[in-house]
Amino acid sequence: MDVEEAIRARRTLKVYDPEPVPAATVLELLELAVTAPNHHDTEPWRFVVVGPETIDRLAAAVDDPKLRRSRTAVVVVQQVAADPAVAEEDYAACACAIQNVMLAARGRGLASFWRTPRSLHQPDARALLGLPDAARVVGVVHLGRPRDGFPTAPCERSAVAFTRVLP
Ligand SMILES: Cc1cc2nc3c(=O)[nH]c(=O)nc-3n(C[C@H](O)[C@H](O)[C@H](O)COP(=O)(O)O)c2cc1C
Repeated sequence: MDVEEAIRARRTLKVYDPEPVPAATVLELLELAVTAPNHHDTEPWRFVVVGPETIDRLAAAVDDPKLRRSRTAVVVVQQVAADPAVAEEDYAACACAIQNVMLAARGRGLASFWRTPRSLHQPDARALLGLPDAARVVGVVHLGRPRDGFPTAPCERSAVAFTRVLP
């Protein structure tokens, strides 16, 4: 699958096969995540890969059963800089890293879902994940093979509606 195909085929998926994604595959995805652009090489991203046992513990600790949707997920965390301008750029860099993960996953036949549950901001979740105070949870990226196939509806949006071209 080439890059354009992966971009078009990536769609949020919420129903996963119960088989966890092999650790080696997740690490391949994260190697691609860290190639994302980041201004001044701040490398703001931190990743916590969570498997079935930790997902279950998290879901129970913060009463969020939706965390169990997939049996493998990556909690993407931003190391927040003191300078708000740097922190803003770093958040954007983390978003780029997440998109890399989701596209690379799709290229490997895996689906994904970037979720921003409030539950992960709870102290119990932060403690379980071992997050320091300066860490901002950017999201949890669910990963896995689809239980019922990939979504097939293409994105209907056209850039024309959002674009002005100036000479
Ligand atoms: C920053 C961010 C946060 C998101 N958080 C959630 C979320 O908490 N719950 C959810 O259902 N979807 C979440 N999504 C996924 C979007 O809802 C999804 O991308 C959108 O519906 C478009 O679907 P698509 O990914 O198939 O194009 C989030 C997406 C982004 C970029």
